[in-house]
Amino acid sequence: MTPLLARTGQALGLAMAFGLAASSAQAAGLTREHANFATLEDGTSVERFVLRNGHGMQASILTYGATLQSLLVPDKAGKLADVVLGFDDVKGYQEHGDVYFGATIGRFGNRLAKGQFSLDGKQYQVPVNDGPNALHGGPKGFDKHVWKARETDEKGWVGVTLSYHSADGEMGFPGNLNVEVEYSLNEDNVLRIRYKATTDRSTVLNLTNHSYFNLAGAGEGDILNQVATLYAAKYTPIDSTLIPTGELAPVAGTPLDFTRPVAFGKHIRDDHEQLKFAEPKQGGFDFNWVLDSAGDLGKLAADVMDPGSGRRLQLYTTEPGVQLYTGNFLKGFTGKGGKTYPHWGAFTLETQHYPDAPNQPNFPSTRLDPKHTYTQTTLFKFSAQ
Ligand code: GAL
Repeated sequence: MTPLLARTGQALGLAMAFGLAASSAQAAGLTREHANFATLEDGTSVERFVLRNGHGMQASILTYGATLQSLLVPDKAGKLADVVLGFDDVKGYQEHGDVYFGATIGRFGNRLAKGQFSLDGKQYQVPVNDGPNALHGGPKGFDKHVWKARETDEKGWVGVTLSYHSADGEMGFPGNLNVEVEYSLNEDNVLRIRYKATTDRSTVLNLTNHSYFNLAGAGEGDILNQVATLYAAKYTPIDSTLIPTGELAPVAGTPLDFTRPVAFGKHIRDDHEQLKFAEPKQGGFDFNWVLDSAGDLGKLAADVMDPGSGRRLQLYTTEPGVQLYTGNFLKGFTGKGGKTYPHWGAFTLETQHYPDAPNQPNFPSTRLDPKHTYTQTTLFKFSAQ
């Protein structure tokens, strides 16, 4: 790729000015475009940014919820499929806000017991929205706001950065919080998500992305024969309301042992108390694994393969945990292109600090103080074999 063409959207403009066809510029490398996706009732415009690389990989990001709306990835024959669940219009996201398809989650990923936590002796209450608990930042989390967007690039990457100001007291959390999420794509088929946040008062923060993956393609059945490895010797057991007990328990000898490659379906129906807590009727995975990589972005955290298409997803993250959730609450949604998303129709890899951390003295801290910057980097690397 020439340096000229490496400069993405601008490159395209320049390439056209130099008389090159738009298609050849796109085929040669990284590009970006954006357009209006929807206009909300109050007149707010929702934009969609589309990032592409020279291998056909394409990520679409909405300013609504800073949401990854679609992700085209080649299989072993080079055939593209959209590997994330989502909707064709904003209405879908608004009407099914409790599935969090592709959304940026904040201020607090996963559950806070009874929506409560205390900080420096002061008690805070987040409105509950999941039985007795607060889930994913409460009833109106970051996934239900329209973010600002700007184009960002660095050498070898094409990106878009979304930003949001969460006012002091929003959903009960203290501090004026400025948060940024950057999605970018490179020529190694890596989708990178970087987060940054600052506050003017001490607060707690646990950001993640809630993409649901199906490596065979969204809406192409369930994920039970996709094979996962989680580099995690421990997990955080939960009670019947999905709140951690506070223990870090070994996965060895349980259906949560993914330290060697195993199909999601192999143990999903096992008669095990934790699986029943996650999904009382048929079982399912919905747990926080304690990653052996322990914040090291250079170490593989998880690896999932679809034997049919050959698509493979490798996960790297600076976060200490990952929530693997197998779509246990999906009950035949109609998503993009009219496709049906069945029970167990996808898996999430939500890189995070552990659920309910503010109430669990043994868990890594989720506290953020003024003059400090929260950062997180997560890489989703795709390949096919
Ligand atoms: C997951 C959570 C699940 C479920 C899902 C959204 O992160 O662990 O229990 O609430 O989000 O439907």
